[in-house]
Amino acid sequence: MINHLYEGLQVLESEAKPLSPIERLKAINGPLLSWYDSHARVLPWRETPEAYRVWISEIMLQQTRVEAVKPYYARFMEALPDVKALAEVEDERLMKLWEGLGYYNRARNLKKAAGVIMYDYGGQVPETYEELLKLPGIGSYTAGAISSIAFGHPVPAVDGNVLRVLSRVLESHEDILKQSVKKHFEELLRETMPKERTSAFTQGMIEIGAIVCVPNGKPKCEECPLESLCLAERHGLLDSIPYKAPKKPRKIEEKTVLLICSSKKAAIRKRPDQGLLASLYEFPNTDHYLTADEVREYLEKEQGVTVESVEPLGNAKHIFSHVEWHMNGYLVQTDQIPGQYLAVERQELQNRYAIPNAFQAYYQKLMEMLA
Ligand code: ADE
Ligand code: SF4
Repeated sequence: MINHLYEGLQVLESEAKPLSPIERLKAINGPLLSWYDSHARVLPWRETPEAYRVWISEIMLQQTRVEAVKPYYARFMEALPDVKALAEVEDERLMKLWEGLGYYNRARNLKKAAGVIMYDYGGQVPETYEELLKLPGIGSYTAGAISSIAFGHPVPAVDGNVLRVLSRVLESHEDILKQSVKKHFEELLRETMPKERTSAFTQGMIEIGAIVCVPNGKPKCEECPLESLCLAERHGLLDSIPYKAPKKPRKIEEKTVLLICSSKKAAIRKRPDQGLLASLYEFPNTDHYLTADEVREYLEKEQGVTVESVEPLGNAKHIFSHVEWHMNGYLVQTDQIPGQYLAVERQELQNRYAIPNAFQAYYQKLMEMLA
């Protein structure tokens, strides 16, 4: 019903006098809002755009796809429906709710920020970009998203989706992974984005990046409301924009993962409270490859248990942002669980201890053994 406002505002661009970046971005507002009104997906966090709900969804969506987020989001909202519940949740329960989503510091920061919101803001999520930015785990993107989606402030939210769309529309060959480039786009949008309907604008930009100007594969320019304004499309530059400088290769770590079982119990241990996957639980593992005989010897000589069988489970790989784990797994039956580990039953493993996805390849096998 707002659409008619933008009719007739078609910008005609002549070859002789191309639009400046500011003019071009101002010109996208109308088509973008109209398109969002009729094309936005129905998503759980869009139903009631209350600040707490927007915040949690934006944090989950930062490194995780929409479809993967949905079930986590529903479960999280049910378990922790407000800031107070989040501020008071036990760490282990929080990790269990986050289990499988990855980047667990996101969850730890959520809880820290909830504590600050309880203490400094009486339990109300602050409205302004500047206040939001001070909270743990909230960077410029999330601050802009919460402030514009939940509170209607005209502040930009530039994530990977938006960087892709903007760099194409403006035909920018700059490296979109650079902070300075993101900052530049934020400054441009701050000047050009509409002062009203900020929620539709922010989510419309993200939505175009997610379902039209897609990250992998060919963008669907024929469906895009920005097509007539998009310079990368006009000049056939979709393969080279967005530009990302090559990253240095990830470090590869070789590991042997042991599923140590003894009469329906399995060995797990808690990871150190600093570094990768801090404070989560894991299956015992060594940081190099072991043969079956070496596994037997290690457990018998160094951990003093009797090994009944060692069954190879094959290799698995898990990719983190800066490292890759190349794993080799064994299922080991022993007369007892070595004393240095926690001995847990299937139920406890399912309901209580958060095991990161890196161990996914072996987790199912263990569940079968403990059934
Ligand atoms: N990705 C990041 N934020 C999003 C949102 N609000 N809706 C859909 N996808 C998103
Ligand atoms: Fe992306 Fe194509 Fe739309 Fe340009 S016209 S923003 S390249 S989908």
